[in-house]
Amino acid sequence: SSSDVSSSEEEEESEETTSHHELMETEQEEGTISTDGHCASNESSCLLSSPDPPSSSLPSSSAPPISAPPPATPAVYVSVNRSGVVQSSRLSLPILSEEHSIIAAVKENPVVIICGETGSGKTTQVPQFLYESGHTLLGAESGKRSIIGITEPRRVAAVSMATRVGYEMDLPSSQVSYQIRYEGTVSQKTEIKFMTDGVLLKEIEKDFLLSNYSVLIIDEAHERSVYSDILIGLLSRIVPLRNKSERPLKLIIMSATLRVKDFTENHVLFPTPPPVVKVESRQFPVTVHFNRVTPLNYVLAAYRKVCKIHSSLPGGHILVFLTGRQEILQLVKKLEATFPSSSLRPPGTREEEEEEYKDLCLENRDKLGERERRKDSYVNLDDYPILSEDVLANDSSCSDHSDSDSNEEAEFISVSNSNQPLVVLPLYSTLEPEEQAKVFGSDVMAVSSRVCIVATNVAETSITIPNVKYVVDTGKVKRKYYDSVTGVSTLKVDWVSKASANQRAGRAGRTEPGHCYRLYSSAVFQNNFIEFSEPDVTQQPVDGLVLQMKAMNIIKVINFPFPTPPSKEALKAAEDLLVHLGAIDSERLAITSVGRTMASLPVSPSFAKMISLSHQNGCLPYMVILVSALSVREIFQNEIDKKWTIKGEGRLLGDLMVLLGAVQGYERALNRNEYCKMRGLRIKAMDEIRKLRRQLTNTINGISGKGDLSLDPNLALPTSEQVKVLRQLVLAGSPNKVARKIDTSRMNVEEKKKYHYGYECQLTDSPVYLPSSSSLCLSSPLPQFVVFQELHETTRLYMRNVSVIEAEWLPWLLPARCVFSDPLEDPLPTFNTSSGRVYCHMKYSFGSWQLGVQSFPYP
Ligand code: CDP
Ligand code: MG
Repeated sequence: SSSDVSSSEEEEESEETTSHHELMETEQEEGTISTDGHCASNESSCLLSSPDPPSSSLPSSSAPPISAPPPATPAVYVSVNRSGVVQSSRLSLPILSEEHSIIAAVKENPVVIICGETGSGKTTQVPQFLYESGHTLLGAESGKRSIIGITEPRRVAAVSMATRVGYEMDLPSSQVSYQIRYEGTVSQKTEIKFMTDGVLLKEIEKDFLLSNYSVLIIDEAHERSVYSDILIGLLSRIVPLRNKSERPLKLIIMSATLRVKDFTENHVLFPTPPPVVKVESRQFPVTVHFNRVTPLNYVLAAYRKVCKIHSSLPGGHILVFLTGRQEILQLVKKLEATFPSSSLRPPGTREEEEEEYKDLCLENRDKLGERERRKDSYVNLDDYPILSEDVLANDSSCSDHSDSDSNEEAEFISVSNSNQPLVVLPLYSTLEPEEQAKVFGSDVMAVSSRVCIVATNVAETSITIPNVKYVVDTGKVKRKYYDSVTGVSTLKVDWVSKASANQRAGRAGRTEPGHCYRLYSSAVFQNNFIEFSEPDVTQQPVDGLVLQMKAMNIIKVINFPFPTPPSKEALKAAEDLLVHLGAIDSERLAITSVGRTMASLPVSPSFAKMISLSHQNGCLPYMVILVSALSVREIFQNEIDKKWTIKGEGRLLGDLMVLLGAVQGYERALNRNEYCKMRGLRIKAMDEIRKLRRQLTNTINGISGKGDLSLDPNLALPTSEQVKVLRQLVLAGSPNKVARKIDTSRMNVEEKKKYHYGYECQLTDSPVYLPSSSSLCLSSPLPQFVVFQELHETTRLYMRNVSVIEAEWLPWLLPARCVFSDPLEDPLPTFNTSSGRVYCHMKYSFGSWQLGVQSFPYP
């Protein structure tokens, strides 16, 4: 194999021979059992390669051991001071009974898979088991302990889990830390480290053997995020290398579903199939109710279902699954208006929503009056519950019930029964952190008799919400479909997979028997739902991934042990792009020096290319702002308004100038929140841009070694020369994203209208359009050549973040995409310049476009 990583061999573990059975027996004879049920045995001391265990290696200091006095040789056991409250809540977690099997399996195997339902305690407890059994002492060089690392696909989870585990163990954030893209609490003392998977990938680039770690846990592996897939692939090679050394590395893969055969049956990945530890879930039965019909308006259907549950069913929190922020806010507002008694209405709802909220309240008061009069015609929940998923599989017809959309009045009548307050909380990933915090472990959840959480599929597995008894599942999810060849992305609301739907239902049975209301028919479930969702790696651009892999000297990406490999076409498209960007050589193998610089920047290869060229003309600070802004999604409250955000000529050069203007305006503003409100900018997005800008600046200063790039908020506006260079740099980083105005001069009126905003682009067969939100729509005539950043398909294919370019820039900036006439065969006038260099005219084309004649240095 030409890959450095894949050349290593799997090595059998030979020293550790204690079987699970033996370990358990020893524990009974000699082990020390502390009150928290943790068992420490002499046997497990062979986990420790450091000769002297620390003085703290006695059983839990909070309570004396129950059984015999401590053994002569202290067990390898790092004590943890847990409060009684924490201890009792831990004891109720199903994973506690698997502690020994987990520790034994980890001891005996280089790779272990742990499967357990969400909420069974994997994320919070497994790091603690490892810590207590001495894994941070493993191979510790003098003084410095090894780290137990845990990767999460989401930043929210990394932060909240670090906080939770630190709280449970009564350790400061300097010891139980987190690291996410922009920030972290990691210190010299860190022993347990939660991080996003991207963070670990970057670390592998710097230190391939990950020598600071003794264990790595890839959490939420069932989600099959691109980064966690590639981490598993890399770790499958790193672990055997480390196991040859004095300091072995253990890998634990944790999954909320039992679908792990991509890991266990993939012999390229793991020649010896890793053992699977299953955590029996303490799941209470969840009754699944299907709708007889599948409503078109699932937000309305969800609204009605919540009203019904709240007014007629016993206490217990409600969890609703919707697809995105807009829908969630819509439903939250509607519910709050229906149940205005909710005294704990979450603060922070935007003021502009207040007006609408009042209107809804008024409207609702009328309806309540109507309901009062007709109380006697109260309608009951008309579901026919079925008892188990098995019944469902055998006979789908019995489970349907009527949930007709037509009888709207009747639906409202049922609402009148409730005078209990209803607290409604939104939960989605772009929500401000304090708002998110309300949902997990908050007081609101404990003191309110009924909380309704309206969430995206963030709540499906990675976050456990206490005391949910009712789940309302719309069965929908917003999925990003990505065409790896054309780069077209489409966001589509689609059915979730059967696995996800069952996962969602399971959220209802954590603390007592629950109910899941599926707002779709069982026939739809059986026929239209796929079994499992596709792993992300097959659904996303892989150019960044391929570049990172090349930077790690994984030359033949196609041979990489992916759990599920991306398609050959996607890999080829990524390599093509990297060649055009000059990041890898034209043989598509080795990384170039520009490529290396690009790989060290935490942004996509296109953006990295723009940055790595922009030291010219003092453009770097502007490019850093632009790239930060382009990397953050949803900057404007309302996309359509964005073209008015800044005034002046700049906007006629493109949306990127609008972005630049918005960020610079924000930085200069005396009152930033005011500024955001005035310009329709999202405060959280602007804040994120700021953080990314700071991070990029630090990284660039680190690479250049000069430290001269600053974050000056009073950076002058770019000169017109700089604006031109910026547009050229953007073009240099976007070789496939050039579009040319469709010539409408010979079209009839109808067609002229249709193609007015139409452009041709060589990636796609169909035309691409300038969206009405683009500032370029304000210019007349429309520019001939533009460069865009993204193609997005809705009713048409729309370009996003478009800038004006000149055709003559193409051969200079993207020579790899141009074809030139041979000046010797097809002689055109040549001339000398005063500098003495010889120039000649050459015909050139850009892809399939014949563009003309231009002068170039004589070859
Ligand atoms: O990872 P897994 O889904 O298996 O479970 P977990 O995240 O470790 O959560 C285990 C339990 O800890 C949950 O049932 C929650 O009740 C509790 N927990 C909590 O109270 N507060 C948190 N921030 C996280 C978890
Ligand atoms: Mg978890």
